[in-house]
Amino acid sequence: MKKTGQQKLWNESEQLTGLEANTQEPKKPKVAKNNTLNDLTGAEWKFSTKSVINKAYPINLQHKLRSQHGGQKPPQLCADLIKVFTKEGQNVLDPFGGVGGSLLGASLCGRKATGIELDERWISIYQEVVQLEGLTEQEFIHGNSKDVLPLIKSESFDFLLTDVPYWNIDSLAKTRSKRVKSSKLSKFNDVNSQTKEQWLTEMDEVLNLSSRCLKKNKYAAIFIGDMYRDSQYHMLSASLAEVLEASKIWTLKANLIWYDVSKTLHVYGYPAAFVPSMIHQNILILRKN
Ligand SMILES: C[S@@+](CC[C@H](N)C(=O)[O-])C[C@H]1O[C@@H](n2cnc3c(N)ncnc32)[C@H](O)[C@@H]1O
Repeated sequence: MKKTGQQKLWNESEQLTGLEANTQEPKKPKVAKNNTLNDLTGAEWKFSTKSVINKAYPINLQHKLRSQHGGQKPPQLCADLIKVFTKEGQNVLDPFGGVGGSLLGASLCGRKATGIELDERWISIYQEVVQLEGLTEQEFIHGNSKDVLPLIKSESFDFLLTDVPYWNIDSLAKTRSKRVKSSKLSKFNDVNSQTKEQWLTEMDEVLNLSSRCLKKNKYAAIFIGDMYRDSQYHMLSASLAEVLEASKIWTLKANLIWYDVSKTLHVYGYPAAFVPSMIHQNILILRKN
């Protein structure tokens, strides 16, 4: 029978006396000395490069409170991303902070973070969560990123982790105004219609302003959900990646798919048309040139 690595380890420890077995420390896997990106071991690094994230994230850290926002991301998912692109103690920036998924993630893994958020309500919820959970409070600036980012010291961050606001498509606002007004999304996005081009220009502006704050060769991870609206699929992830690359500031490195296992399925086109149930989000990975 072929022996696995684990079997070999088990047999070796079986041969120890009771005393020796108790004093035996498990070997700590080593982080390569020339690893300049993160604190992951080789095995962890390999796992972290999977292009699909299918891990189930716990509904925790005052989820009910944070879900008043409607666009909140699991802090543990943010921590997992932060651990791939930073070392302990490094600095993370989020120019679209929401209720602080990135900031909570940074606290969970011993990193520093700064968030910026337009709406004070979300900052208050973040602060309440931090208090209730006994986590380190990160810097959270109330304001418009377009005004705040130019005041931040250039090249002072090691990683940009953000989740862009949704595109308020014109026809959605017109034809589904009732539904949009009552949806959770409307709580963090006013129902002001915007063309796709206007939305892209705004995202480009904030993300390029953010890039000034990021050190050279460092990474950005951007959550962006594609949309199916008015009988058409809008590949917003691809459009945003294209716009960002056109500035020559960024190089696109990956499009990770986060399969959100908590999403429930709905029936849309039955029985005549195929309409996707969107249970994934894209995470664009870009590197500052
Ligand atoms: C998708 S949500 C982020 C959610 C966040 N990842 C979380 O876990 O809570 C985007 C947030 O960006 C904020 N926002 C939109 N435009 C902004 C701007 N120009 N400056 C600062 N915040 C902005 C919105 O108010 C919204 O809360």
